[in-house]
Amino acid sequence: MGREIDYVIDAISTNHTFFFRESSHFRFLEEQILGEFSMGQLGGNRLLTIWSCACSTGEEPYSIAMNLAELSAESRDWQWRIECSDVSSQVLESASKGVYTHSQIQSVGNKRIHMYFEKGHGQNEGLYRIQANLRKRLRFQKINLFQEDYPWSRKFQIIFCRNAMIYFDRVSQKQLVHRLSDHLIPGGYLMIGHAESLTGIAHPFQMVRPGIYRLPGNLG
Ligand SMILES: C[S@@+](CC[C@H](N)C(=O)[O-])C[C@H]1O[C@@H](n2cnc3c(N)ncnc32)[C@H](O)[C@@H]1O
Repeated sequence: MGREIDYVIDAISTNHTFFFRESSHFRFLEEQILGEFSMGQLGGNRLLTIWSCACSTGEEPYSIAMNLAELSAESRDWQWRIECSDVSSQVLESASKGVYTHSQIQSVGNKRIHMYFEKGHGQNEGLYRIQANLRKRLRFQKINLFQEDYPWSRKFQIIFCRNAMIYFDRVSQKQLVHRLSDHLIPGGYLMIGHAESLTGIAHPFQMVRPGIYRLPGNLG
């Protein structure tokens, strides 16, 4: 029965994604959020935790991981972790393998391809796998955003919930946005897709710019 439900979910969901999709989120991460974090303004515990809650086949969280690997290399006094989830077992299996074709990694750029991917040989010719030292920083698990409880004991500084909400009705969107806000620290950020908007639904966030919302409150 479980497998049948998975097939139905996969058939009706759009899993389309790509590396560094909606690049303004990644620029904001680099320019703004990490500056705040390194100055101790995003919680004082030196561990930056991010949840990619509709991660599809992994391009989104691996893109975040590449950014964080570069930025944390410059300042070694903080750590980071990315929790990744999706409702589809099939995409999660693919995401945790971290294997992509050449056309799938085109938006990564050559420099990062060299830094973060290993090239397949023999029967894996034409395939590229995210290197183990980056893969091991991400944890993948199945979470339906509408399941009763989420498995988190601590709050995140940033949640990426991009291009999933667009398929939900307004009531479900409102319910989801409130639930996500419960899992962010005060001052934490919610990233949504550029085609999505919280306009017209009651929510606890302040809009920072399109697709980027911040929970009010005092930081760390
Ligand atoms: C279009 S992809 C978005 C991937 C990535 N976030 C991005 O923006 O490129 C939408 C993802 O949302 C997932 N999804 C749909 N409904 C969901 C739910 N109720 N709980 C968790 N994930 C869900 C789908 O399985 C799919 O992988």
